[in-house]
Amino acid sequence: MVGAPPPPEDGASALPAGTFAGETVLVTGGGTGLGLAIALEFGRLGASLVLASRGDEHLAAGAEALSAIGTEVATVACDIRDPEAIAVAFDAAEGAFGLPGVLVNNAAANFPSPAEDLSPNAWRTVVDITLNGTFLCSREFGRRHLAAGTPASILNVAASYAWTGGPGFAHSAAAKAGVVNLVETLAVEWGPAGIRVNGLVPGLMPHDDMTADIRASLDRTPDLDARQPAMRVGAPRELGWAATFMASPYARFVSGHTMVVDGANWQRRTLTSPPVVPVREQMGRGGFEPGT
Ligand code: HXC
Repeated sequence: MVGAPPPPEDGASALPAGTFAGETVLVTGGGTGLGLAIALEFGRLGASLVLASRGDEHLAAGAEALSAIGTEVATVACDIRDPEAIAVAFDAAEGAFGLPGVLVNNAAANFPSPAEDLSPNAWRTVVDITLNGTFLCSREFGRRHLAAGTPASILNVAASYAWTGGPGFAHSAAAKAGVVNLVETLAVEWGPAGIRVNGLVPGLMPHDDMTADIRASLDRTPDLDARQPAMRVGAPRELGWAATFMASPYARFVSGHTMVVDGANWQRRTLTSPPVVPVREQMGRGGFEPGT
């Protein structure tokens, strides 16, 4: 099976050099993983980057990677659950490079768990970071651009289980469904002000910064390439390329759309029905014990 050919090499770009020259892009959770992959592609195209994250180590790692490709970068500590911290982060971004023209809502929280094992606080934490944080950052960004009368672009990183449900990820799937819905609502509300809002769904794009829980799920899965219709997993830069296109002048008529970059994995159906394996069994957990 030939599958999808490998992506163009690291450092390549489909967009003209300097597409984002003079532009500032703020990426939440942009210090590591797919957020950093997105930040790097904006940086290569001339943008200045602001990375917002809770973790100083993450911020330092992201700043180092961006500086290494010659990108101007500022970092700001921010918990996106806190609207005041978000306002402070945007003040810092404005102070460094001016009001960002692009916001990438990438920060999210997640861990696999059978739904019945989730504590109220575990549920609340994931929804608070993933959905409420995305809304609060969008609101701060939108208000500043509405006040300034400037066009802008928002990209929300979502997940395909927003549409299908996500067994083992009830909290994240429900939150991401809200994130996709926000794309559709805000694109219309803020379209007249020239603010575009789109979503991006990554497929399986392994990287060194995956959380231990999610890495453990992958480690239980042999031959990841053969489990994708594209016959290979994705490269993080493939998400970065999609992000830069969606936020670029070449996509000025694209808004309210969530693009999936997963080699059609989320559309998979099988001709025959595979056996159902309960989430607890997939995770190697014993039976549910009430009161735990
Ligand atoms: C069960 C857990 C848990 C786990 C935390 N909790 N981890 N419950 N299983 N593995 C519970 C805690 O016990 C607590 O509930 C509540 O969640 C809050 O935990 P805290 O550690 O206090 O929260 P916090 O420090 O804010 O951390 C949030 C976090 C953390 C979600 C737990 O992992 C995080 O911030 N992660 C950010 C990075 C991340 O998750 N990236 C993955 C994105 S990838 P109690 O009741 O004890 O108080 C992605 C796509 C995946 O989303 C696609 C997969 C197919």
